[in-house]
Amino acid sequence: MDVAALRQSWAQFSAAGPEAAKYFYATLFVLAPEARSMFPTNMSYQEDKLLAALGHIVSHVDDERELTAFAQRLGADHRRFRGTDRQGREVPLGEWHYVWVGQALLATLERFLGPRWTPQLRAQWAAAYEAVTRLMLTGAAQAERTSPPYWEAEVLAVQRRRADVCVFTVRPNYLCEFLPGQSLPVQVPQLRLWRYLSPANAPRPDGTIEFHVRAAGRFSTHLVRRLRVGDRVLLGSPLGAALSSYDRAPESPLLLVAGGTGLAPLRAVVEALRQGQGRMVTLVVGAKTPDDLYDDRAIRELASGWPAGGWLRYVPTVESGWQWSGAVGRAVDTALRLGPWRDTDVLVCGNPRMTRDTVGALLASGVPAERILAESYDHSLYPPLAGGVADAARDFTGSGAR
Ligand code: HEM
Repeated sequence: MDVAALRQSWAQFSAAGPEAAKYFYATLFVLAPEARSMFPTNMSYQEDKLLAALGHIVSHVDDERELTAFAQRLGADHRRFRGTDRQGREVPLGEWHYVWVGQALLATLERFLGPRWTPQLRAQWAAAYEAVTRLMLTGAAQAERTSPPYWEAEVLAVQRRRADVCVFTVRPNYLCEFLPGQSLPVQVPQLRLWRYLSPANAPRPDGTIEFHVRAAGRFSTHLVRRLRVGDRVLLGSPLGAALSSYDRAPESPLLLVAGGTGLAPLRAVVEALRQGQGRMVTLVVGAKTPDDLYDDRAIRELASGWPAGGWLRYVPTVESGWQWSGAVGRAVDTALRLGPWRDTDVLVCGNPRMTRDTVGALLASGVPAERILAESYDHSLYPPLAGGVADAARDFTGSGAR
């Protein structure tokens, strides 16, 4: 495979920006009208994802391990997207779906690369796409042996903690295994939209999962305003390795910095640690006002009865609060006052801006980048923005699980 030619043409192609994504989907839907119903009517959320993933693939095309892991995981995850045949019956994604996507991709590259699109380059791209398709299909076939394409879950409880925040609990039909700190794609069948949410609890013996949502867009507003006990939601396979690495140095203290409903994955981590050997954990939760600390009571309960040899120091902090006697300021400023944290693993989760600012302030205070594990709850990108600080410091865009 001519890796340099693929990379160079990808760089030239990427300069076309969103126009290329629009052209790609328009071509796909002309080639295969059956594919249209698989995608949401409003494509603005999806448009750049497939091409962004292809960018990730191209940049790792000579790293067989990373490429295989990424493509197989993506293929396994694609089992939750069902296609329809010409009679309108639901069918799993098959080889012919990949043929359509491949044709649309090659046509799009041709359109945007113009005279640079040579028969040799076409052959390189066709071979690379074929290899990725194989990996995705293998990933799907392997996953079929261990997990369902998605879980159906019943809503057991819904609590509106504030006008724009709800906490709800679901019970999946089969045990859905996840690691504290990971996210799951969630779909409300009425909307047919998938968005990522993080379980707020450590895995429980009864399999139930709690989610926290703040209304920010169509999906989250639907959950906050309309979700009812007895409703059905679908869950996809868990994803995300940043926050779930919280246990990589189990003997050392841990700092957790949460903003808004970014608290959810960090609460899952706290619950998991509480079941463990005992560890020194500081949890700083930031909010605008005391009223925004929507999970205060649950965290206080968690803080009691910490295992011997450790403790949970819970520090809620608000930007302004009438008659508030606790910490005031941004979560990161409060956290830094409690430091130093140079030898501590730090987990950060909040909205994109909070995450970026928190990571920046931690770095500026001398916390080494490799100590920081950050994830933003902007789950509109795939894979979710997570990982070491190099990822976290990237320019976050968008806002929340819209
Ligand atoms: C190399 C091949 C492909 C790549 C790299 C790719 C990549 C992606 C990515 C990254 C996402 C977003 C996932 C998420 O948000 O969780 C996605 C979603 C999706 N993909 Fe693919 N995909 C490929 C092939 C296909 C094929 C062959 C089909 C079927 C025609 C397909 C149908 C879909 C659908 C229906 C969605 C969800 C759209 C939505 O509800 O927002 N993909 N794909």
